[in-house]
Parts: sequence; structure tokens; C-alpha cells
Amino acid sequence: MAGDHPFSASVFIGTSLDGFIAREDGDIDWLTSRGAAAGGDLGYQDFIDGIDTVVMGRGTYEPALAYDPWPYEDKHVAVLSTTLDAGTDPRVTVHRDLDGLIRGLTERGTKSVYVDGGQTIRTFLRAGLVDEITITAVPVLLGTGLPLFGPIGGDVLLVHRSTRVYGAGVVQSTYGVLRQQDHPANGREGAC
Ligand SMILES: NC(=O)c1ccc[n+]([C@@H]2O[C@H](COP(=O)([O-])OP(=O)(O)OC[C@H]3O[C@@H](n4cnc5c(N)ncnc54)[C@H](OP(=O)(O)O)[C@@H]3O)[C@@H](O)[C@H]2O)c1
Repeated sequence: MAGDHPFSASVFIGTSLDGFIAREDGDIDWLTSRGAAAGGDLGYQDFIDGIDTVVMGRGTYEPALAYDPWPYEDKHVAVLSTTLDAGTDPRVTVHRDLDGLIRGLTERGTKSVYVDGGQTIRTFLRAGLVDEITITAVPVLLGTGLPLFGPIGGDVLLVHRSTRVYGAGVVQSTYGVLRQQDHPANGREGAC
């Protein structure tokens, strides 16, 4: 249900087979170890080369502070948070809500956004702002953890674009998000 917006927004995220992006305590070793075992970067570099802006929630930003070097050097980084001190990290801009974020991105002339973090992805999905989703699923069941998906206010129709099987049983699938006017229920010929 992607609505009209001046930029494209893509999700590129790793999950357990049961749909978690991190353990409850934020641990993602179960993901990084299997990603490494699969070999290569699983398409990440090609993906991020095509985007100009990373949008993430505080829950993703805070662990990323430990990365050395900072992995988003040539990107604009916008963080969604109601609690983070704005202005303490010159590498990022902090936005208190989605409306302010969208205004900021639009004013900057943003063209392509990488949306990261479970809550933030769901915020974008609810607003109809996601255009493409790539999920890299690693073969492990965690049973519990921080979910990728949850309530999003209605069905989001997807179109399968590709699936690639990497080593170590890592399976990566990409889906396009159908825009409202393309929904079969919205008057296209042959709709039932
Ligand atoms: N598996 C992967 O590929 C992958 C990728 C990215 C992250 N992760 C992991 O996932 C975990 C973080 O995920 P998460 O589900 O906690 O989500 P998140 O979106 O990274 O962070 C959630 C926080 O973002 C802020 N936020 C989100 N939506 C907002 C909105 N509409 N308005 C204002 N603020 C908003 C809130 O911060 P405040 O509480 O400050 O308001 C919220 O607590 C981390 O452990 C990270 O390492 C894994």
C-alpha cells in the first residue's frame, strides 16, 4: 500500500526462520555467525550503494554506536526516537515522529531510504511507505525475541521478485509492495 512519497523506501533485514530480528536482549550473533558462514555480504553492499539515507529506530541506532568504523559514513542517517537527545551525535538527525521525519527527508531531497529496525519498519508499513522488502532468513528458530512483523493496520499485498539460496541454508527473498491503485480489489481488469 505504498502511498505517494518523493522517495523510495526499502527494507533489507535478516531474520530467524520464525521471524525474529534479535533476541530479547538484542543479541544478533545467531544471525551474523550464519551470515558469515553463508559467505560474501549477501548482497548488502549492492543494496546500500543504491540508497542515500538510512532511517532507523533508537533500538537499532544504539547498538550501531559500537560499530567501528561507523558503517554509514557517506549516508544521511535519520533516527526515530521520542527519548534520544537530539544534537549529541552530529552523524545523525533525530526525529520525534514519522511526520517530522517525512518532512525532513522531503526537504533534503531524499531519493532512496533504507528502513531499519523492527518498530520503525512497522511504522513505515502502517503508513504505506515501504516499496520493497528483502528478507534474509537464516535456518534457526529462536522461539522468542524482537519481531520483524506485528500489527500493521491491514493487509499489505506483496509481489515476489526473487529468491536466492546462499550457503549454510540462508535464503534471501525480495518482494515489491503493491501500491493502493494496483490492488486487485481496486478496479483493475480481471479483479474478483
Ligand atoms: N536482524 C537484523 O538484520 C537487524 C536489523 C536492524 C536491527 N536489528 C536489531 O533489532 C533491535 C531493534 O529493533 P526494534 O524492534 O527495537 O526497533 P527500532 O525501530 O530499531 O527501535 C525502536 C525505537 O525506535 C523509536 N521509534 C520507532 N518508531 C517510532 C515512531 N513512529 N515515532 C517515534 N519513535 C519511534 C522508539 O524510540 P524511543 O523509545 O526512544 O521513543 C522505539 O523504542 C536491535 O537489537 C537491533 O540490533 C536487527
